[in-house]
Amino acid sequence: MNLLKNKVILVSGGTRGIGYEVCELAAQSGAIVVAGARSKVEFQNQNIEYYNLDVTSPESCKVFFDYAIQKYEKIDGLVCDAGITSDSMTAKMTDEAFNTVIDTNLKGTFNLVRLVGPYMENQGKGSIVNIASIVGEYGNIGQANYAASKAGIIGMSKSWAKEFARKGKPVRVNSICPGYILTEMLKSVPENLLEKFAEQTMLKRLGQPEEIASAVLFLLSEMSSYITGSVIDANGGMRL
Ligand code: CAA
Repeated sequence: MNLLKNKVILVSGGTRGIGYEVCELAAQSGAIVVAGARSKVEFQNQNIEYYNLDVTSPESCKVFFDYAIQKYEKIDGLVCDAGITSDSMTAKMTDEAFNTVIDTNLKGTFNLVRLVGPYMENQGKGSIVNIASIVGEYGNIGQANYAASKAGIIGMSKSWAKEFARKGKPVRVNSICPGYILTEMLKSVPENLLEKFAEQTMLKRLGQPEEIASAVLFLLSEMSSYITGSVIDANGGMRL
C-alpha cells in the first residue's frame, strides 16, 4: 500500500524502537523519511535518511528542520518519538532524573513542533503524531517524571490541534499512547513486573514496535483525515 506516496516525513528518535519501525513502515508506504537521532544506524529502506538531531537543543532542532525544508521543500508529517526513561521511586528521584526526562520528552517535542506546526499551517496541511504513553494517562509507580512528560504531550497535542487548524487548514495533531512495548526501554524493568504488565492486558502479551508503527502510519495518512486532537490507545486493552 502506498499510503504515504511522495510524502516527506520527519521522525525524531527514528533510529531505535518504535521510531525505527515508524521510519521503515513509512518508507515502505512510499514516503521519503528523515530520521533524526543522536546516533546513526543502518536502515533497510533506501528512502530513509539519517540526520543528527538532539531534541533537547532548540538549535539542533532548527538545523534539522532547515535541512529538511531546504532539501525537500515541504513537510507532510512529523512523528515525535524521541523519549527516555529514568525511573525511580519519588523519594529517591534526583533533580537530574526529573529534568532530563522532561527536557527530552516534553520540551523536545515542543522544540520540534514549534517549528514544524507553524510551517505546516503556512503550507496549508500536515499531520503531526506525538508518541505519548499509557503512563501519561494512568501513571505508574516509579515514573512520576515520565508520566508528567507524557501527560504533558497529550495536553500539548490537543492545544496544537486547536492552534494550527484555527484558520480551517487541515493541520492535524494527534497522540498515541502505547502500552508496554518490547523495546530497549523495557530492559530496566524487573521481569516479574513485565509478566504482571502482560497479564493485565486483554491480549495477555506485551506489544511489538511494529504494532505502534501501524497506528502512526494511519494517523500520518489521509485514512485518518477527520481525526485530530485524538488520543489513540495501543495497549492490548491493558486498562479495560
Ligand atoms: N507496579 C506495581 N508495583 C511496582 C511497580 C509497578 N510499576 N514498580 C515498582 N513497584 C513496587 C515494587 O514491587 C516494590 O514493592 P514492595 O515495596 O511491596 O516490595 C516497590 O514498588 C518498590 O520497588 P523496588 O523495590 O523495585 O524499588 P527500587 O527503588 O529498587 O526500584 C524502580 C524502583 C526503578 C521504579 C523499579 O521498581 C522499576 O524499574 N519499576 C518499573 C518501572 C516501569 O514500569 N517502567 C516502565 C519502563 S517502559 C516505559 O516507560 C515505556 C512506556 O511508555 C510504558
